[in-house]
Amino acid sequence: MSKFQEAVDYILPKLTEKPTIGLVLGSGLGVLADEIENPTVIPYGEIPGFTASTVVGHKGQLVIGKLQGKQVVAMQGRFHFYEGHDLSDVVFPIRIMKFLGVETIIVTNAAGGINESYRPGDLMLIQDHINMTGRNPLIGPNDDTLGTRFPDMSEAYSKNLRELAKGVAAEQGIHLREGIYVGLLGPSYETPAEIRMLRMLGGDAVGMSTVPEVIVAKHMQLQVLGISCISNMAAGILEQPLSHEEVMETTEKVKAQFLALVQGILAKL
Ligand code: HPA
Repeated sequence: MSKFQEAVDYILPKLTEKPTIGLVLGSGLGVLADEIENPTVIPYGEIPGFTASTVVGHKGQLVIGKLQGKQVVAMQGRFHFYEGHDLSDVVFPIRIMKFLGVETIIVTNAAGGINESYRPGDLMLIQDHINMTGRNPLIGPNDDTLGTRFPDMSEAYSKNLRELAKGVAAEQGIHLREGIYVGLLGPSYETPAEIRMLRMLGGDAVGMSTVPEVIVAKHMQLQVLGISCISNMAAGILEQPLSHEEVMETTEKVKAQFLALVQGILAKL
C-alpha cells in the first residue's frame, strides 16, 4: 500500500463526508479552523506518514467539518522546510488532501511586506509567486499517477478564484492588495540588501512557506487561492528589528478581517 493510501485509510473512516476544499492555515491564522462546525480533529502525530509541526503558533492538527456550508479539511499549522523536514514531508498533507477528495485549496501565510505601499495588517491576494528556495518538491522520480513530470505553472493561483476573492473583499469593505509572493527557505529573516534585491525582482511580499505546497497542488491539478497576511514590513524598510512576536501580534489584530474574508470566499465557492 502507498504511504498516501495508509494516511487516507486512517482519516477517511473518521469522516461522515469527504472534504472538497482544503485550507492551509499559516502562522497565527489557525483560528479559522476553530470556526468549523462539528469538527473531526486529528493530530498530525496520529496520522501515518505525517511528521509533527514545531513552530510556536502552529497547532499541528487536521480539522475536518463544515464551514460556510462547505465540507473542508483544514491544516491547523503546516510544516516548513526550515524545521528540518524533507520537502516531501512538507507537501505530504497536500497530497493527502487530494486523495481525500479536495479540488480547491486556500493557502494562507504571514509574510513580510516588500512593497513599500503596504502596511502591517494588510491582506494580500497572491497573484503569483517567485520560488527563491532553490528547491522543488517534485525533484526525484515522477509518480505519473499523481501528475505530470513538467507541470504548468502559468496560472498557479487561479484567476477565477482571485476575481471571486476580490468581489468578496469589495463587499466587505476590505482593501485587499494583490501581489507577488517570494518564497525563501528561512529561518533567518532577510537582510535589507536581500529585500532590495527581491523588490527589484518584482516581489511584493516575502515568506518561508507556501511555494512547495502550491507546486505540489498544481502537480495534482488542484485549484489554488493564496492569501498573505502582511505581518510586518520586510527588513530595512522601517527602523526596527523583525521578530516572530510582531508577526504573531499583527496576525492577531487582523484575525477578524481574515476570518470574514475567507468565510465570505468559502460561501461563494
Ligand atoms: N520575512 C520572511 N518571512 C516572513 C516575514 C518576513 O519579513 N514575516 C513573516 N514571515
